Amino acid sequence: MIPSIEWVDDNIKMKVKIIDQTKLPHKLEFLEFNDFRSVAKSIKVMNIRGAPAIGVAAAMGMALATIEYKELVKDKFLIKMEEAADLLRSTRPTASNLFWAINRILKIIKDFPDNPSNISDLVIEEAKIMAQEDINVNKNIGKNGASLLKDGDVVLTHCNAGSLATVQYGTALAPIRAAIEEGKNISVIADETRPRLQGARLTAYELQYDNIPVKVISDTSSGLLMMLGKVDKVIVGTDRVTSDAVFNKIGTYLVALAAMDNKIPFYVAAPTSTLSLKETIKDVIIEQRDSSEVGNILGKVKIVPNGVECLNYAFDITPFRLVSGVITEDGVFTPKELLKKYKDLH
Ligand code: MRU
Repeated sequence: MIPSIEWVDDNIKMKVKIIDQTKLPHKLEFLEFNDFRSVAKSIKVMNIRGAPAIGVAAAMGMALATIEYKELVKDKFLIKMEEAADLLRSTRPTASNLFWAINRILKIIKDFPDNPSNISDLVIEEAKIMAQEDINVNKNIGKNGASLLKDGDVVLTHCNAGSLATVQYGTALAPIRAAIEEGKNISVIADETRPRLQGARLTAYELQYDNIPVKVISDTSSGLLMMLGKVDKVIVGTDRVTSDAVFNKIGTYLVALAAMDNKIPFYVAAPTSTLSLKETIKDVIIEQRDSSEVGNILGKVKIVPNGVECLNYAFDITPFRLVSGVITEDGVFTPKELLKKYKDLH
């Protein structure tokens, strides 16, 4: 897949260029932004989505803000950059990566001893490094996770934690890509992922784009397919890992329960930027999106009677007891090993 996001410097104007994921799978269109407010809006309405991708988008949004404000005196500049950070943070509350990326950029800005007029290049460079780091991390998640897959495995995944959810290569789809690169035959079952249909629209699109066999199922089919022996492993991504649970797209918990009941390994692919191990379940805000996303199919066909309320929680909580292993860029860990390995991390 082509990158979901990139920094473009065409000598006239610096821009952030993203794939407009709301148009997939039928149209591959791009959006370009040269101010951080538009980047924030694109994260909120999910033109770009997926925890690592929105982290990099926020970092690039901060870079655009430095260009806009760099002529201000230092005190004013810092106030304006905090405001830009607040706007970007307010877009989606659950994914750790968003906060992690903004804090990383703010640290550079605050530590900068010089006049703000010289800071943009440094921040742009950092945002580009973060984009490249994301790809490298995902490749390592791929290598580590590929060791869990054997020739002929069918892997079930939920939502889209692929190339589109990152800068490139993906997290949950990385072990599948890497195992195929090693010569193994692997195929994928993608849950459609109501209500935004990231599985049907995005996972199916990017796997087909890369010639990886994929079949889409309705979310409610995954338990039956596991019971029928048609799933060998489950791999999902995550938006945040706390010291007791994994937060991921709504529906993940039910997949994990069905996997446990059917003795199928349930793996979570998590770059370390997604780990928030000093937090527990109660510290996390689960995003609730507009109820119209549930009451309408892709905003087009209304499926509930007028006047009936819908609830739209975007993520759910999978307790560690249901997780067989967490795949990071450093290796594969049981939840207990993960806590030990990263006890000193952010
Ligand atoms: O609401 P989304 O589409 O941003 O949710 C995405 C997910 O739940 C992914 O599984 C998660 O962000 C990990 S992406 C590598």
